[in-house]
Amino acid sequence: MSEMINLGDVLRSHVSVREFENRPVEKDVRDRILTAAFAASSTCFLQLIDVIRVTDPEKRQALMHLSGEQSHVAAAPEFWVFCADYRRDAQLVPEADLGWTEQLVASCLDAGICAQSAMAALEAEGLGGVFVGGLRNGIEEVDKLLQLPQHVVPLLGLSFGYPAYKNELKPRLPQAVTVMENNYCEVNPETIADYDARMREYFASRSRNPREDTWINGISGILKRERRPFVREFLQKKGFAVK
Ligand SMILES: Cc1cc2nc3c(=O)[nH]c(=O)nc-3n(C[C@H](O)[C@H](O)[C@H](O)COP(=O)(O)O)c2cc1C
Repeated sequence: MSEMINLGDVLRSHVSVREFENRPVEKDVRDRILTAAFAASSTCFLQLIDVIRVTDPEKRQALMHLSGEQSHVAAAPEFWVFCADYRRDAQLVPEADLGWTEQLVASCLDAGICAQSAMAALEAEGLGGVFVGGLRNGIEEVDKLLQLPQHVVPLLGLSFGYPAYKNELKPRLPQAVTVMENNYCEVNPETIADYDARMREYFASRSRNPREDTWINGISGILKRERRPFVREFLQKKGFAVK
């Protein structure tokens, strides 16, 4: 990798990749991705994030089932789990006052920022990947499988490797909707309708899994459904967000 890579170009050309070549990711490449991930900012420099690299094929198989049968979880050359970890810091500071909801928010932000740095770094290496929030479908079982102690929880998976297939770029909401100045602005329904028409076109014309669908229909299916109701109790059992 000798040519100069423009990080902005890497970020602007992001697509999730779910199919990979049968080719391992070299150790030096993995190390560069990890160094980039852990160079990310960290709330109060608490350094709350762990990455668990899952190489055991049986565990990968189990994680695939727990993540809603997402085949790349077992098949991708690499699968990493980003965990929030207050245990390490609390072992060093036994008087640590844990369980605040704000601490959960901080660790979710740190995990997301760290994971996105990993994604950008791996894409800059010519690899591709997809985040796997689906592992929270079986969060309690994932927790057991990875033998996570109290005050450590799994938040997000990342499957990655050399892409065998890349989707076309997925159109985002226009910035007229998502970018505001000085105060909140209500959305213009016409702008959304135009976007939904573009999304209908995207779904109908994409080369894999084309279908008749719209963005609003997609989010409507998701937002009306119960969302992992067991997550709150699990997190509280692990000592998160009890106050
Ligand atoms: C936190 C998070 C969790 C996600 N979980 C999954 C997942 O479990 N399975 C999956 O196929 N995609 C998952 N995605 C990927 C999104 O579906 C994807 O980013 C979105 O549809 C936009 O497509 P693009 O990334 O190709 O632009 C996740 C993305 C994020 C940010």
